[in-house]
Amino acid sequence: MLVRIRPEDVEIGMFIHAFEGSWFDHPFWRRYFRVETHDQLERIRNSGIDGIVIDAGRGLGPPEDRQATENKEEPRNRRPPASERPWGDAMSFRSTATFAPPQPPARDKPRRRRGYAGECRRAKRAIDRTREAVVDMFDAARLGRAVEVRRMVKLASAIGASIERDAKALVNLVRLKEKDEYTYLHSVAVCALMINFARHLGLDPQETQDMGVAGLLHDVGKVAVPDAILNKPGALSKAEMRSVRAHPVVGHRLLASSHGAPDLALELCLRHHEKIDGTGYPGGLKGDALSLAARMGAICDVYDAVTSNRPYKEAWTPCEALTAMQTWTGHFDPVLLDRFADSLGIYPVGTLVRISTGEMGVVVGSAGAAAEDIVVRAFFDCETLAEIEPVDRVMAPSAEHPRIVGRDSPSFWRFHDWDVLRVRVLASHDAPAGDGRPIGPRGADR
Ligand SMILES: [Fe+2]
Repeated sequence: MLVRIRPEDVEIGMFIHAFEGSWFDHPFWRRYFRVETHDQLERIRNSGIDGIVIDAGRGLGPPEDRQATENKEEPRNRRPPASERPWGDAMSFRSTATFAPPQPPARDKPRRRRGYAGECRRAKRAIDRTREAVVDMFDAARLGRAVEVRRMVKLASAIGASIERDAKALVNLVRLKEKDEYTYLHSVAVCALMINFARHLGLDPQETQDMGVAGLLHDVGKVAVPDAILNKPGALSKAEMRSVRAHPVVGHRLLASSHGAPDLALELCLRHHEKIDGTGYPGGLKGDALSLAARMGAICDVYDAVTSNRPYKEAWTPCEALTAMQTWTGHFDPVLLDRFADSLGIYPVGTLVRISTGEMGVVVGSAGAAAEDIVVRAFFDCETLAEIEPVDRVMAPSAEHPRIVGRDSPSFWRFHDWDVLRVRVLASHDAPAGDGRPIGPRGADR
């Protein structure tokens, strides 16, 4: 049975099922584990996270006396209906906190963050080393040589270590690439995004590393596609499109003949251009026929493609990209796409989020020279439970405050006519430059 409790109520012997909020706030590599040491206990209690889900069937449950108190406090401590449960229908929702009225998030909690600038320098070195290795891999493949999988494993491990220290540093840096280095850096970027995503989903360390290796190798079949086609500014002819669409099968064949490629890498290489509605290639697989790696890979691959400068298209900001991808019905697994946005701590325009000021706001776009900052329009004070005059808050990725605490549920906060309220908030100021443009998936499948 899954039960949500506060971090300060966690005890040794409890089995952690999930941390609330963005992965960037989580103090652990793993999501699923039993609390066994005082060090783990301290890290959880000092994490600054608002809520934790424990599995009472696999470890110690919440204290009985708190449960008794909760039962006495009905209906104030009532169990919300399914539509109001941020955890969804699959979990029971007992808590030591009260839920009606909703608890405001704590203001300005101290948070431990390693130096963003320092990690950017380390991440840059890891990116450069990995890019060189990817160039070597493509050169060797053009000569018909096998892929050096062991070297890729080591580099994926270094990328994973950087992400563990501060994910935003490497993920932001690798997005900023020149047009002529896209082919190689795209592999590094997909590696980083896959590792970050896998960690957010709570995959075990071996699977997480294999996802990273798979990201590095996923496009190796492009060695068979002439650069003139890959970098063509205009639309591709039918013959050119056939050449591009062959790269998953070519890459899969190359990896299958190379020693030591993880199964996940073979799977991702072959399936990263499949779509959830069956209109992708090469197999036209749909729905449940697509593996987790294929679904994750499709999202990471397109996200990096559309947030990079390409010969035929300028880069979108992360916020624009996620906003657009959300509208491409049938392309991605929609639940996983939400989880991907959570893993980045970046949300589509119009998403309701909590911010560290103790306010609720709507994401309105991005800002800053590299479009790394997210602009959230705060409109509701969680302490007074009242609307406020809308004000734009800019969230820089390295800032302790203000920062986005996490996505939130309009129904949980009793924003009953959320669509109307959201439109009103979005219309209360001019949107940041670049928002509101109609954007489609042009070139996203190259
Ligand atoms: Fe590809």
